[in-house]
Amino acid sequence: MQIREASIDDAEDIMQVYLQAFDDSEAQMVADLSINLLKEKHNVKIISLVAEVNNEIAGHIAFSPVCMETTNEHIGYILAPLAVLPKFQKNNIGSKLIKYGLETISNIGSYIIFVYGDPRYYSRFGFKTELAKDFIPPYALTFPEGWHALKLNSSAFDEGGKIACVNSLNDSDLW
Ligand SMILES: CC(C)(COP(=O)(O)OP(=O)(O)OC[C@H]1O[C@@H](n2cnc3c(N)ncnc32)[C@H](O)[C@@H]1OP(=O)(O)O)[C@@H](O)C(=O)NCCC(=O)NCCS
Repeated sequence: MQIREASIDDAEDIMQVYLQAFDDSEAQMVADLSINLLKEKHNVKIISLVAEVNNEIAGHIAFSPVCMETTNEHIGYILAPLAVLPKFQKNNIGSKLIKYGLETISNIGSYIIFVYGDPRYYSRFGFKTELAKDFIPPYALTFPEGWHALKLNSSAFDEGGKIACVNSLNDSDLW
């Protein structure tokens, strides 16, 4: 298995990962998000990674920049979305994509990483609801227990406040 940066040429394969991994009720929306993030241009780079097994795309993850709404200060990234093709699940690919992304960001600087997802999965990587609770996402959360954060390198940014995300995440249905 190898991890590399995704390109627009991977779009079809990445879509398939989400269409197959997620339930029908969410699959198209999350697949669209993955492609929108691949296309979106932002002054801070959006990180989009694929995991390949024998030249087949087995998984995908994206991290997009997060700023404080009032000051526009870039404080971190949000991990979304993530999926692994069902036939490749439970082979550590999801974990490796998360760890690779966190290490990439950790090498750039001191940031908070947010994620909105299943606490049972993300707590494995050190994400905590306690740290996220003072950072207000752009939309009301359907599932507030899923709002987590992790600090990389620094204890800064303790204050909290309302955060802003990239355009691809500006859709209340995603929250
Ligand atoms: C979640 C997902 C990315 C994990 O990918 P993966 O490559 O199978 O993950 P890993 O092999 O690193 O870890 C597998 C472990 O995570 C567990 N796991 C997977 N999804 C989980 C979840 N939602 N909650 C709790 N545990 C979960 C598995 O049961 C397995 O447990 P084990 O190690 O005790 O056997 C993959 O299951 C997937 O694509 N799911 C559908 C889409 C999805 O839910 N994406 C995340 C959105 S929050």
